[in-house]
Amino acid sequence: MPEDASWAVLSGARQSRVGVAPVATDAVVGFATRSLRVEIDRGTLELTIRDAQGNVVQQDARPIAFDGRTFRIWKKMPLDEHYFGLGDKTGPLDRRNEAFTLWNTDAYRYQESTDPLYKSIPFFMTYRSGVAAGILLDNTWRSSFDFGKQVRDTYSFGAEDGPLDYYFLYGPSPKQVVEAYVWLTGTPPLPPLWTLGYQQSRYSYYPQARVLEVADRLRADHFPADAIYLDIDYQQDNRPFTVNTALFPDFSGMIAKLTAENLHAVAITDLHIANYPGHGYAPYDSGMAADAFVKNPDGSVYAGKVWPGSSVFPEFTRARTRAWWGGLYREFYGMGIAGFWNDMNEPSIFDSPTLTMPIDVVHRIEEPGFQTRTATHAEIHNVYGMENSRATFDGLLALKPDLRPFVLTRATYAGGQRYAATWTGDNSSTWNHLRMTTPMLKNLGLSGFAFAGADVGGYAGTPAPELLTKWFEIAAFQPIDRDHTEKGSGDQEPWVGGPEQEAIRRHFVETRYELMPYLYTLAEEASRTGVPLERPLFFEFPDAAADHHPLDVDPAASGEFLLGPDLLIAPPPFLEEVEAYPVELPSADWYDFWTGERVARPAAAQVGPVVVTARPEAATLPIFVRGGSIVPMQPLVESTNETPQGPLDLRVYVGDGGEGRSCEGSLYLDDGKTMAYRQGAFLRAGFTCLVADGVLRIHIGAHEGSYPAWWKEIHGEVYGWSATSATVVVDGRSEPVPLSRSSQAIHFTVDDNGKGVDLELR
Ligand code: NOJ
Repeated sequence: MPEDASWAVLSGARQSRVGVAPVATDAVVGFATRSLRVEIDRGTLELTIRDAQGNVVQQDARPIAFDGRTFRIWKKMPLDEHYFGLGDKTGPLDRRNEAFTLWNTDAYRYQESTDPLYKSIPFFMTYRSGVAAGILLDNTWRSSFDFGKQVRDTYSFGAEDGPLDYYFLYGPSPKQVVEAYVWLTGTPPLPPLWTLGYQQSRYSYYPQARVLEVADRLRADHFPADAIYLDIDYQQDNRPFTVNTALFPDFSGMIAKLTAENLHAVAITDLHIANYPGHGYAPYDSGMAADAFVKNPDGSVYAGKVWPGSSVFPEFTRARTRAWWGGLYREFYGMGIAGFWNDMNEPSIFDSPTLTMPIDVVHRIEEPGFQTRTATHAEIHNVYGMENSRATFDGLLALKPDLRPFVLTRATYAGGQRYAATWTGDNSSTWNHLRMTTPMLKNLGLSGFAFAGADVGGYAGTPAPELLTKWFEIAAFQPIDRDHTEKGSGDQEPWVGGPEQEAIRRHFVETRYELMPYLYTLAEEASRTGVPLERPLFFEFPDAAADHHPLDVDPAASGEFLLGPDLLIAPPPFLEEVEAYPVELPSADWYDFWTGERVARPAAAQVGPVVVTARPEAATLPIFVRGGSIVPMQPLVESTNETPQGPLDLRVYVGDGGEGRSCEGSLYLDDGKTMAYRQGAFLRAGFTCLVADGVLRIHIGAHEGSYPAWWKEIHGEVYGWSATSATVVVDGRSEPVPLSRSSQAIHFTVDDNGKGVDLELR
């Protein structure tokens, strides 16, 4: 048997134990837990998993196929089961009737049916009639997943070699499956706040004056922004960890200037080290001295051609090599570069017929849980990018232990969310690619990657101004919001296309910044539970339809996504269409985010989804807020480094249901940068409302934690409630609160000293 060890699963999870009751009959052997009964057929070794009521949750369709080293598992595929996950594979959200290969691949200009792509995340969710389960095939070799493409009523997965090691995760809710998956493979770290701001990139901004010009223009135009990226052209001859001093005569001065403008610099640092002996190129010299590079079967160092020309490749599967790699960041990180970008780490190699390393290249594994041994590239390929991002993350942490690192990686494996955020690689500037961002980011989120984005505006090609604008609108509600494009394409900054287009784009990015308290609260939740920021509808509303099917597969909902539990973003399913289109909502209990108007009730008392009509317009994007939510917002800032001036805004959407209706929300805040939150320097507060005896009671919770609020007052906007008077209870006494009215809301302002506030609106 191959070695039983894992790059994905945390050792704590691997070693945890739970009591089970043995099951043994003449026909089967297995065990029962509180919720499941697991049986293996003594004759065929087929596996059946049932819930406590005896319903089959998952069942092998035929015996496991072994063919020398390859294996394949076959599962019965009910007609009404749906499949999600596998990272950002393209195509429909539901993987049913599709098949995929997991082999990390540089897929420049990928299209909707391109496979494989950059990442290998061998995790998927099954979902049937409201019951979700998950499977992680923890095998790093080339693997494949077939959801009924080959055989109509059977899905299957297998790998060409390596351990047959798979995990079954029972929900029954989709959220529980993701939480279980993240319990197994690790949470994403709490990101620095600035990474949730707008990020400006292109391949490449150079020379130095151009970088500063873009920065100055963002500020001059009052376009909120938090980051500027330096792609490969800042380097000398594309050699990682160097600077082209002819193009960047004062590189550290430029970083300081950006920092002073509240723009965080993110530098690309590709993993390929130029094969450049005898020139004092420290990454090569120190790497050779440390025996840090992967080797050919004959023991010579493997070299392949990438951006710098002939290059050598670090052995990221050894702790000592990762520590050496991490040390390479000392100068850049010390200079104040805030984040680092690990690209090309599939690894991409230009002069190889497979566009990557030959599979017989030899890696060395030194890793707790593994035997210290060598492994071929066939085994390591799919984890190579993840281990690259791990080396970067751990290295940055070692250099500045009190600062939260930010790493962006292109290639990764299951568990890679522990080290880096990711993006969907080299997409194209087309309406269809903008549409594809929704299923890709939803599936990435279900696969553990809460922090992900797609190049805004598209990487390959030049978007028409209207396409770029719509992309800005939608991306303002995606977890990572980064504008990026390839070399040689037209300009793609927010102002391209004229002031009218820029004004629309600015409005949406400003809305993102106003929603920053909500966004950051979601980010913090993700760092504890793995629950993604961008969510499919069925994730929050598994029971919306009478038959409990996932709403997202309905044509009228296929363009929609949720940002957290409360905001539903509803672009048209096909973005270039000009006709009015249907928007399917999980219930009628929603408000228009922009106007505050309540979604019109259907004539008959209807439970289940409702369909409303929206019109595609260049300057608008339909967004709905869940009745029963309280959404925290803030006054506008142009960078997350700025302290908002004014009150905290709480938008209270009272929602449906008469007496007893309630609403809730929460807020998390800290310094956005350091690890001080681990010592209690955070602020957490919960908000609730309740309708009782015709009175709306709003409770603003006391602040937990030692981090001070930036506000002294709270400005409340209450939707879905009419009141003529309000009181606030202070030290047991009721005092009147002035109310004002806008077309849909009642407004009030109260002091918030952190000890909690109780209001009554009648
Ligand atoms: C490929 C990456 O996907 C792209 O984003 C980047 O601009 C180029 N490499 C150049 O570094």
